[in-house]
Amino acid sequence: MSRPTLEIKDLHVSIEGSEIIKGLSLTVKGGEVHALMGPNGSGKSTLANTLMGHPRYDVEDGQVLLDGEDILEMEPDERAKRGLFLAFQYPVEIPGVTVANFLRAAYNALHGDEKPLSVLEFHQLLQQHMKELEMDEEFAGRYLNEGFSGGEKKRHEILQMALLKPRIAIMDETDSGLDIDALKIVADGVNRQRSDELGVLVITHYSRILEYLKPDYVHIMMDGRIVRSGGPELAKELEEKGYDWLREEINA
Ligand SMILES: Nc1ncnc2c1ncn2[C@@H]1O[C@H](COP(=O)(O)OP(=O)(O)OP(=O)(O)O)[C@@H](O)[C@H]1O
Ligand SMILES: [Mg+2]
Repeated sequence: MSRPTLEIKDLHVSIEGSEIIKGLSLTVKGGEVHALMGPNGSGKSTLANTLMGHPRYDVEDGQVLLDGEDILEMEPDERAKRGLFLAFQYPVEIPGVTVANFLRAAYNALHGDEKPLSVLEFHQLLQQHMKELEMDEEFAGRYLNEGFSGGEKKRHEILQMALLKPRIAIMDETDSGLDIDALKIVADGVNRQRSDELGVLVITHYSRILEYLKPDYVHIMMDGRIVRSGGPELAKELEEKGYDWLREEINA
């Protein structure tokens, strides 16, 4: 597998006629971890959903290229097959479908052609990854997202990543609702998967997870645009000063 490159070029996205993303450019390459921060309503989740091809979001202008190929015309499953992965801010509950069955279906949809696994092989693989994430074995038999605690939802996302081996992973607020131990397990889970074959975009409000994740780049999004990019020190500055400092600077 080659090193992935996701290029977002001057993206404009609207929802029901109102423009939410107003010219956003960002490149994420394999081996890199990018953090995207920004106030509520600045368009972070809109960006994540647009990248995955959610039908409610209208791309008005700009390009999104994965390894040089335009993905905006592709259906969501085609994007997933090419290695795009989104961990949702609000995962859906699916009663009657177990975690194990869901993950096996997802695994086979993505990797079934290359290396189909028997049920037994899949369960061995699943158990191995669950052990690494310190998840209880019985979790595999739970119904998808039903009654999951905040921490369980997030571990489940990391488990999906570990199994599905995406090339570009977009994680929307993976730290919300995590206690400090769980936050560290999630960060460790991402860190274990870091390689030149994986690029990560983490959307977060807290610099705490970034202390464990150690992003290479931090971007601040306000009102549909990236207004500042820098290193991890930018997250610290934000924590200390809040967003008003940037608002004032931008308007000055
Ligand atoms: N489906 C929708 N229909 C109408 N408006 C929407 C929809 N989704 C998002 N918006 C609007 O788009 C703007 C950006 O929302 P978005 O969820 O992308 O923000 P965010 O940066 O992820 O915020 P948060 O930090 O609270 O998660 C908001 O004003 C929101 O109300
Ligand atoms: Mg959001």
